Amino acid sequence: MSAQIPTGGHPAHPPSPHAPHLAQKLQDRSARIAVLGLGYVGLPLAVHLARAGFSVTGFDPQEQKVSLINSGRSPVQDVPDDQVNALVLGEKLRATASPAALQGHDVFIICVPTPLDASKQPEMGYIHTAALHVADHLRPGTLVILESTTYPGTTDEFLLPLLEKSGLKGEHDLYVAFSPERVDPGNRTFNTGNIPKIVGGTGPHGTALAQQLYETFLERVFPVSSARVAEMAKLHENTFRAVNIGYVNELAMICTSLGINVWEVIDAASTKPFGFMPFYPGPGIGGHCIPLDPHYLAWRARKQGFSTRFIELADQVNSQMPRYVVGRLMQLLNDRHKSIRGTRVLALGVAYKPDVDDARESPALDVIAELERFGAQVQYADPYVPQLPQAHGHDLHATRTELSAESYAWADVAIILTPHAAFDWESVQRHIPLILDTRGVLRASGNVVTL
Ligand SMILES: NC(=O)c1ccc[n+]([C@@H]2O[C@H](COP(=O)([O-])OP(=O)(O)OC[C@H]3O[C@@H](n4cnc5c(N)ncnc54)[C@H](O)[C@@H]3O)[C@@H](O)[C@H]2O)c1
Repeated sequence: MSAQIPTGGHPAHPPSPHAPHLAQKLQDRSARIAVLGLGYVGLPLAVHLARAGFSVTGFDPQEQKVSLINSGRSPVQDVPDDQVNALVLGEKLRATASPAALQGHDVFIICVPTPLDASKQPEMGYIHTAALHVADHLRPGTLVILESTTYPGTTDEFLLPLLEKSGLKGEHDLYVAFSPERVDPGNRTFNTGNIPKIVGGTGPHGTALAQQLYETFLERVFPVSSARVAEMAKLHENTFRAVNIGYVNELAMICTSLGINVWEVIDAASTKPFGFMPFYPGPGIGGHCIPLDPHYLAWRARKQGFSTRFIELADQVNSQMPRYVVGRLMQLLNDRHKSIRGTRVLALGVAYKPDVDDARESPALDVIAELERFGAQVQYADPYVPQLPQAHGHDLHATRTELSAESYAWADVAIILTPHAAFDWESVQRHIPLILDTRGVLRASGNVVTL
């Protein structure tokens, strides 16, 4: 039997009168595209589509962001100003905060936030609002793609019915697909323009049209048989990371208690050329994806009667890491007949990962909050984060400092939380008497102690 190529796998659908027309408009780049949400996901996508030759409207309710983009500047670190500027001047890209400007578009791509509510349940309000804006401006032969990370079933059960309120019918005169975004802010090798993209429609037309759209700027687009498969693939990728990070964080704690260097263990295990892939411990998980996405899967699984034990366990281990880090520091100080209260701690790096300017959901904030709770004096150094956001609604008192002779003289101890490439580690190691390295940058030697 010959291998099956994913074709969309949907039951045969009647030919749709509008699909060839839209396919032609995608082919000749005359299709007008609206991207809803101009954040880390939406802005790079809008820029790639505009560079591929489409006329792109970016819609975002944040007026400030809209003005910035229309003045040729980029609010997203990975998107250079000159790219935005050239596209705005060439009238290929414009931003708007007015829903009325969504009129007359052939393709809508939704890239809005999907956070969790206070009880860690999916917060679907952003997708709901965006879907209603789109529904108001649908006309026969429109393609709508959801890129926001969400639970399996969202596109079929939540988005499509909202869009069909317009009177259009999915796969007949309206094409709908899910295509997860895998962008990794700060990654210098992979970006929106070269990460393979998964697409899954609510029917074969949705899949095929979405595939055609992304192939205008991407080498590899991988169609799957349904929107649900695409939604689940994204959750699987990020849950896989969260679970493995949870495991390696636990391993790090075990290694420390046994006097073994966990980074050396990981390096050694990584020499196995098959069946192993390294994950690294740290002060916890951050960002908008890894801490959140597994909860979308867990929520949907619970509705199905499943308990998601791996997810719960990883969440438990990962979320206790900031406390563990502060406990470890207390232990180190105790060994030196010192207390945490009054100790001057220099926190190195507060962004949620290296070389990005985003500190939201960063475990470094939880570490600082915990240090302050025990009476430590904290300063932080981070070239990308001028001001600390709140940690779970609480203001932090730590002030920002530069790495300088003055801050070195001030600090009793440093904690390496986010290893930005811009830090001069050699100088840190030379000047600060005690360093707790939660990221394995300096490895344990002399005045450096690991997690
Ligand atoms: N940031 C990442 O690294 C990343 C990677 C992959 C997937 N994702 C997923 O992509 C989605 C977007 O994430 P992000 O990081 O770009 O978020 P973001 O917060 O950077 O940007 C979202 C933007 O949407 C805007 N917005 C809110 N409501 C809107 C509405 N009704 N209509 C139009 N715009 C609206 C916000 O003002 C904001 O500018 C989320 O589901 C996220 O999980 C994020």
